[in-house]
Amino acid sequence: MNWRKLRTFLLTLLVLCLIPATRYYQIDVPLVGFLKGSQIDPLTLHLAGEFVESNLGTEQDADGSVTVRMIAEQYLFIPHCILVPAGVPVHLRVTSADAVHSLAINDTNYKVEVLPGSIAEAQLEFAQPGEYAMPCREFCGAGHYAMRSRLRVVARDQFPVLRTGERGNCAAQ
Ligand code: CUA
Repeated sequence: MNWRKLRTFLLTLLVLCLIPATRYYQIDVPLVGFLKGSQIDPLTLHLAGEFVESNLGTEQDADGSVTVRMIAEQYLFIPHCILVPAGVPVHLRVTSADAVHSLAINDTNYKVEVLPGSIAEAQLEFAQPGEYAMPCREFCGAGHYAMRSRLRVVARDQFPVLRTGERGNCAAQ
């Protein structure tokens, strides 16, 4: 082997070693999932499964409670505004498409840490109608301070009757 070939070989090796270094987010993701013992792939959230766009928002459960599904990603929450009825249990399910975020509901004690690879769950209930800001409380990058959503709580009789497969959101109000 002459020096020229050896040099080409070593350079190629170096470049191949550098590729994983630029992809550490993707490599990090299964590790986070493993540590939290969970099973959702943050890279395919939009394509299939519980967190596809048509399934986000507020779902009416058979027992009268509601389930809210959201995605946190740099630098927004989807949906931007959540609509729930007052006086019924709210099951919140959130996951992250990228970094670690934290969904806080201002003026309440509710705060949920949202990790890529796992589904964060919380049980909420609001006695009265009202409107709350829901900012991200975990520094997640340059757009962190603009990352927020809203929660609108309406009286039970003002919450729309949702058919199977239908999801409530603020635009319906
Ligand atoms: Cu998301 Cu800070």
